Amino acid sequence: MGEAVRVAYEAKADEYAERFGTMAAVHQSDRDLVAGWAQGISGHIIDAGCGPGHWTGFLKDLGCDIEGVDLVARFIDAARTSFPQAMFRTASLDNLGSRDGQLAGILAWYSVIHLPPGELHVALAEFARCLRPGGTVVLGFFDGPAGEAFPHAVAPAHTWSVAAMRSDLAAEGLEVTEAHVRSEPGCRPHAAVVARKLGVREGAETF
Ligand SMILES: C[S@@+](CC[C@H](N)C(=O)[O-])C[C@H]1O[C@@H](n2cnc3c(N)ncnc32)[C@H](O)[C@@H]1O
Repeated sequence: MGEAVRVAYEAKADEYAERFGTMAAVHQSDRDLVAGWAQGISGHIIDAGCGPGHWTGFLKDLGCDIEGVDLVARFIDAARTSFPQAMFRTASLDNLGSRDGQLAGILAWYSVIHLPPGELHVALAEFARCLRPGGTVVLGFFDGPAGEAFPHAVAPAHTWSVAAMRSDLAAEGLEVTEAHVRSEPGCRPHAAVVARKLGVREGAETF
C-alpha cells in the first residue's frame, strides 16, 4: 500500500517538515482535541502516518506512551532528530507492526487522505485489529464528498464526509463517539472523528 505516496513524500519530506512539522502549524482546536483525547488514554498509542513527528513529540511531552510510524524513511530519520524523546519507526497503515488488541489509541492525522477510496477500509481494518476493545482512534481528514479526488501538493488525495467515515468505521467495528467539522476562509474544510473499538474485554465488561 502507498508506494507512489512514499516516493512522492520522500522527495518532498524536507519541504513538508519545514512548513508543517511543528505544533505552531496546528490549529489550536485540533491541538486541544488531540491532547484531550490522548491524555484520557492509558496504554500504548501509535501516531500512524506521523510525518515529521511533531504530534508524536508533543504527545510524548504530555506524558503519553506513544510512538510514531510512517512509510517514509526520510520523515522517520528527521523525526528521530527533531524529537529524540520519542520513538519512531517505518511502518505502513495496512501493517502497523502491532499485535492484535495491543493498542490503546491510534492517531491518524491526515494520513488516510492519500489512500485510494477502495483502500481506506484496509487501513481502518488494521486500526481495528490493533486496538484493544474500548481503544480509540482519532482521524483528521479533509471534509467533503466521500472519495472525491483533489489536487494535493505532494500526492493524490481525497476528501471524505463524516457520514461516510462513520459508516466505514462502523463496518470495522469502530463506533464514532465524536465528530467535528470546521470551515475557514482560504482553507479546505476540515473534519475529525474519534471512534471507539466495540467489543468485550476479559471479564465480560462491555464497551
Ligand atoms: C499529510 S501528511 C500528515 C503527516 C502528519 N500526520 C501531520 O499531521 O502533519 C500524510 C502522512 O501520511 C503518511 N502516509 C501516507 N500513506 C501512508 C501509508 N500507507 N502508510 C504509512 N504512512 C502513510 C505520509 O508519508 C505522510 O507522512
